Amino acid sequence: MALLTVLCYPDPRLYKVAKPVAVVDARIKKIVADMAHTMYDAPGVGLAATQVDIHERILVIDISENQDELMVFINPELVWVSPEKKAWREGCLSVPDHYDEVERPDTVRVKALDINGEKFEIEADGLLSVCLQHEMDHLQGKVFVEYLSLLKRNRISLKMKKRIKELVGQR
Ligand code: NI
Repeated sequence: MALLTVLCYPDPRLYKVAKPVAVVDARIKKIVADMAHTMYDAPGVGLAATQVDIHERILVIDISENQDELMVFINPELVWVSPEKKAWREGCLSVPDHYDEVERPDTVRVKALDINGEKFEIEADGLLSVCLQHEMDHLQGKVFVEYLSLLKRNRISLKMKKRIKELVGQR
């Protein structure tokens, strides 16, 4: 398993729209394994392929306390969202050390393919719902900070650019 490099906001590659996976084959399984490895290493509760510069509709999520319940979503699609909304404090591996409140539908129903290419559908609320919506946004080229005010977004952009400069300077 390889550790993949997570793109950092405002990297323009985070704005690319992912394409559907045509067939869940060995190549896709390898991507999923590498993505899961990268998510656990961070550690994070979710990772979209877009964040590791792979522009195919693949997500890995694990919201379990012991990080031992991997969920894989290939070609995920929202089939229903609740009219009720809820605000959660979100974070993102592509926006290190920044957390902010985003309001989203409370409950969602998502259909996808699993790691074996089998169709499944789940209804999610709470953290899983937030996670699914956040990660599916990534596949559409949207980072959660896009929900914040322009002022906040500019501030985050500057902070991230400074951080990248510092990281490069350390090498
Ligand atoms: Ni994210």
